[in-house]
Amino acid sequence: METLLSVRGLHKAFAAPVLRGIDFTVRRGEIHALMGSNGAGKSTLCNIIAGLLAADAGALTLGGRPHRPRSLREAEALGVRMVMQELNLFPTLSIAENLCFQRLGNGLGLLSRRRLAARAEKALARVGLAGLNPSLPVARLGVGQRQLLEIARALADEPALLILDEPTASLTDPQIHRLFGELRRLREAGAGIIYISHRMDEICQIADRVSVLRDGELVATAAAADLDSDRIVELMAGAPLERPARGASGRAGAPLLRVEGLGRDGAFADVSFTLHAGEVLGIAGLIGAGRTELLRAIFGADPADRGSLRLATDGFATARRFRRPADAMAAGIGLVVEDRRDQGLLLPLGIDRNISLASYRSLQGPLGLVKRSAETALAARYCDALAVRCAGTGQPVRELSGGNQQKVLIARWLARDFPVLLFDEPGRGVDASAKARIHHLIREAARAGRGVVVVSSENDELFAVSDRILALSRGRVAGDFDAATVTEEALLAACFRHHGREEQNRAATL
Ligand SMILES: Nc1ncnc2c1ncn2[C@@H]1O[C@H](COP(=O)(O)OP(=O)(O)OP(=O)(O)O)[C@@H](O)[C@H]1O
Ligand SMILES: [Mg+2]
Repeated sequence: METLLSVRGLHKAFAAPVLRGIDFTVRRGEIHALMGSNGAGKSTLCNIIAGLLAADAGALTLGGRPHRPRSLREAEALGVRMVMQELNLFPTLSIAENLCFQRLGNGLGLLSRRRLAARAEKALARVGLAGLNPSLPVARLGVGQRQLLEIARALADEPALLILDEPTASLTDPQIHRLFGELRRLREAGAGIIYISHRMDEICQIADRVSVLRDGELVATAAAADLDSDRIVELMAGAPLERPARGASGRAGAPLLRVEGLGRDGAFADVSFTLHAGEVLGIAGLIGAGRTELLRAIFGADPADRGSLRLATDGFATARRFRRPADAMAAGIGLVVEDRRDQGLLLPLGIDRNISLASYRSLQGPLGLVKRSAETALAARYCDALAVRCAGTGQPVRELSGGNQQKVLIARWLARDFPVLLFDEPGRGVDASAKARIHHLIREAARAGRGVVVVSSENDELFAVSDRILALSRGRVAGDFDAATVTEEALLAACFRHHGREEQNRAATL
């Protein structure tokens, strides 16, 4: 097969070397998976190919010509499209405008609204978002839908080289299935695709070849058929991975939180469950099932319209709904959000500040000043427990790789001893070994008597961390399962319960 992209002797350093002599090729008509632990250099390599970063040394060619794009725009003009790890949409613009903004102002400058809408509808249909009103502002979409929208935008341009940096981190199985169909179609048309993911099962399904980066070096390139997931993980880590056991973090204790008939119009309805001390409750569901909305309503971020919460702290006497996160936090509830860039991290500040942020009170000395040494020690403890790859605890979070930023966010909330912790996609974008560490810490938090709720699109994650799993389907509870015994089929069937017959049949064939 003909070579599309060739990378020779590529070097890149920030404070320390990040890419060290990379040789890498992508052929026309292949899906090439790029694997590596958090901080291995995957995004950096792709950013160079896509014109966002300049290399320090090395030579790239695209279609046989020297490839030295000085900007994203220049790379795009050469047929390169990248869906970045962090979402990059304009929240206040409409879906249609986001899909077509590269073209705004080009050509005649006049833009037919009808043509814009027609183009948007076609692009949306390809990623399974048909029916979504293209004039809605992007701010109204959930993270999964935004991710699909970015993918739709890249696909609509029929790129010669498509780079997908963790495109499926917030997608569920049916969406991924559809995406893979589109990628195969693009491959048939002769495009080259670089595919980054931490989900091993996907690689075996979609990739033709696999390259593995470790500490900025390319340690292997092989046909996907010659590798299995254990071998890939071994190459990534340089050592075999310990496999976490499924389920049950310990025995559930006394009730901590009762959710009674909670509802938010247009999102979810009549949700009831009890969370116990020592318990991890997983929540499964498809995109749009209302999982994120449910957590945000419990936390008071988008208040519920109906129903109530009762807490053990006052003997379940008061039925309440939080209207502000500050009130939920004062009552001992913490939420780790899904979209770390929008709602979570203070990028210019150090790792230490970001972790201690929620725990300021417990770190304050007699004069109300935060004890620097306590802050550093706290950060050091979590950087160690989660293996955060950094130059030191004072390094700005902006400089960390995506997966390492996620670890910092999780550390912040674990550090504060809320009795009730809510996690929305805690494993988003972290590699297999870091994920196992996060699961371990979540289960430890439960073992120490906290109650934890985990929303995840990955069944493996739900199984690894939960004692019980609640399935949401179209905003309603459709099943409450023992995590140790439920099958994936039963869980998926519950997630589809309130969908139409046609969709249920399609699910049965997945
Ligand atoms: N602007 C920067 N300044 C300093 N260091 C940086 C900067 N950008 C990236 N790095 C470092 O480069 C290394 C590689 O980062 P990169 O984002 O390429 O990793 P990755 O393989 O994509 O990881 P992940 O799976 O977590 O997304 C990391 O150690 C990161 O801290
Ligand atoms: Mg990355």
